[in-house]
Amino acid sequence: MFHDPDLMPFTPLEKPSLWAMRENFLVNYPRAAYREDRSVLPGFPPVTPKINLIMSPALIEEMLVTRAEEFSRDRLTVSTLSGPINKESLFFAEGADWKWQRRAVSAAFRHENLLAQVETFAACAREQAALWRRLEAGRPVDVAPAMSRVTFEVILRSVLGAAPSFDRGRFVAELAPALGAIGWRRICAIIGLPPDLIPHPGSFRAAAALRYLSQATRALIEERRASGVARNDLLQLLLSARDPETGRVMTDAELEGNLYTFLVAGHETSAVAMSWSLWLLAKDQATQERLREEVRAVAGEEEIGPATVEKLVFTRQVLQESMRLFPPAAGFARQPRERTTLGPYHFSKGETIAVLIWCLHRHEKLWDDPHGFDPDRFAPEKVKARHRYAYIPFGAGPRICLGMSFAMLEMTTLLATFVREFRFSTAPGHRLVIDARFTTRAKGGMPLLIEPIRPTAEGELAPAA
Ligand code: HEM
Repeated sequence: MFHDPDLMPFTPLEKPSLWAMRENFLVNYPRAAYREDRSVLPGFPPVTPKINLIMSPALIEEMLVTRAEEFSRDRLTVSTLSGPINKESLFFAEGADWKWQRRAVSAAFRHENLLAQVETFAACAREQAALWRRLEAGRPVDVAPAMSRVTFEVILRSVLGAAPSFDRGRFVAELAPALGAIGWRRICAIIGLPPDLIPHPGSFRAAAALRYLSQATRALIEERRASGVARNDLLQLLLSARDPETGRVMTDAELEGNLYTFLVAGHETSAVAMSWSLWLLAKDQATQERLREEVRAVAGEEEIGPATVEKLVFTRQVLQESMRLFPPAAGFARQPRERTTLGPYHFSKGETIAVLIWCLHRHEKLWDDPHGFDPDRFAPEKVKARHRYAYIPFGAGPRICLGMSFAMLEMTTLLATFVREFRFSTAPGHRLVIDARFTTRAKGGMPLLIEPIRPTAEGELAPAA
């Protein structure tokens, strides 16, 4: 078990603060959320209603899995995220409309199709490693933008093939202001104002960024249509999808919305999880060495491929434990379609019920030493002994993250490649401050020292000259 004060990097506020939500809504989760099954965020009277918080695996199972059709995405999430995540996508679709859109793209996420992508993941990892090898020795490097770059390249190639003419640098750069305004959008939504209509800090820049992102996404679709070439990729599945019941195909707005959502949801969360994993390994050198030894034992100096990636059991456990402590999506919510109960608790129609992944994953009743870092918590026998829904970085039930297996294979390949090639250590003097506007990021990025490791003439591994 590894301990460090940064592993719980803030103190929950006694009273929730709207102001704090600009950058880190997690501080508003009360202490009770780390101990109780259910608690209530009192809201900000008279304008905002209370928000129900649930942290019990059994209640979560009931709402997300066994009675999933009785709940929809909640009003606050829709108001906060539609815009930065396109409203016309399966992320926001409901009922039969959601079902056929999700089914239409699921084929791309079948295990055998994903294993075929591992070579692409490894190629992207190699390209990132080459960039790091050119770095000046001894200077801290911000791994956060590097992880955004590499995970964006991964999703782009998986969704579209190489896409050489696509300006990925500009696309990723425009995402920062588009997603950066989410903190203020959440405040608007909570006090009942429409975030798209009310000017707030960053809103004009965000609107300009979203216009660019929308036009760039449409251009990708038009380019594919104009080429007349049918490729075997996710965009093709979107273009040829047809609702089996109504025969309807996706409208242009849905095509754009879904492609954009895949590009954004398909890289931002993985980038965040990768940054935290590298940071945790930089802190805990013994675990970093253990992971490196596993990679050498499983793959030697060979590139990670479909035959080796699933044997990297400890690497996967490190990622799982990293997403327990720092879940990239720290929470999400639902609202009941009708007045209802969950366990002993009553909820009216349309009331927000938030699932606090951050608190669930650090809950005193569910985890020993909840703020300590210990990848062995994910050893198979330990997993079996826990409630299945005590750990849900990807959500649960029918709306579980579509990209879960994709992300796990991708991140295992990236992490194994990086740790075999480099030694990561913390940058002296770095202070961790959480920035949880959209995903759970570190404010100001994630500076680390990255030292290459190369085979010597004897075949031993030693630091590069
Ligand atoms: C570490 C990486 C990732 C994490 C932690 C993550 C987490 C999540 C979470 C928590 C949800 C919401 C579940 C809910 O509301 O019930 C979600 C939904 C979704 N994710 Fe991910 N995600 C990741 C990677 C990906 C990737 C790589 C893709 C695509 C390739 C993707 C596509 C989606 C989509 C389309 C949805 C909406 C599913 C639906 O509503 O049916 N995600 N994800």
